Amino acid sequence: MLTVIGYPDYSLTKIIVEKLQATEVGVYDKVFPDGEFYVRLLEPEKITSSVAVVVSTLYPEQEKRLLKTLLLVDAVKRSNPARTVALIPYLAYSRQDKVFLNGEPVSACLIVRMLRSAGVDVLLTVDVHSLRVLECFDGSSINVMVSDILVKHALKHSSNPVVIAPDKGALERASLAAKQNNLEYDYLIKQRDRVTGEVRYMPREINIEGRDVIIVDDIISTGGTIAESSKILLRNGARRIIVAATHGLLVGEAVKKLESAGVSKIILADTLGVKHDHHLIEYADISSKLIEELNKIVLSGK
Ligand code: R5P
Repeated sequence: MLTVIGYPDYSLTKIIVEKLQATEVGVYDKVFPDGEFYVRLLEPEKITSSVAVVVSTLYPEQEKRLLKTLLLVDAVKRSNPARTVALIPYLAYSRQDKVFLNGEPVSACLIVRMLRSAGVDVLLTVDVHSLRVLECFDGSSINVMVSDILVKHALKHSSNPVVIAPDKGALERASLAAKQNNLEYDYLIKQRDRVTGEVRYMPREINIEGRDVIIVDDIISTGGTIAESSKILLRNGARRIIVAATHGLLVGEAVKKLESAGVSKIILADTLGVKHDHHLIEYADISSKLIEELNKIVLSGK
């Protein structure tokens, strides 16, 4: 049996419940006058002996969502499920996945360890920034790659495109997406000054003259990475730039920045607790991959 526990404001909860015909367990939550959170499962007895899936995401309001998720997992665990799965498509803090400068924490590791110590047995996430993050989780973890779905969707807006990763770190997700869609791929060389945050790009020898380019990345935050890559690619003769990125945080003026850099379309996955409404933005449906993974988890008994 499968039970699903999630916040009603996150649309993925409903999708999972409907597609898996699972039992939804409601959550009552409130904030105490002093600002502390309170959560209570409405029918905890339904969870007993089931595979309990806590559906959450850690953006926006990362700290608040993290704490609420931990509280929920703790409550679920106390209801004696067979296993507790956390479906968290976006893991906040994942970019701080190592010590870049002396004195820093490894925030990403801390987050997944907190989830583990609250009682998560299986962590199911989407296109995590780097697999290093999941190595810190000592339960089982699954990283669902969706760049192939995003690029497939981007093909509706491009012809004979080449797939480009904005840096070597994004090459694996770009190559996966390109191979699945029979496309060529390459990457740009990016150098970031760790102290000032300034980014410089060195274009590689790629023939993009007159061709559409699909830029594949995991996160768009300020839009700086994609905007700079787009400008370089357009200067080097690209015809159109379509962006396929998994987590569209799109902070502040990010969309404007991308539009003025010449981006013609932005394809995103619905992994966050917020959706952007803009004529450049389209969302690709990734729920079938998540359903597939949840089915495997239930069948495997692990
Ligand atoms: C960096 O390594 C990530 O993969 C993204 O490229 C980066 O986080 C995007 O951030 P921004 O949109 O602020 O440039």
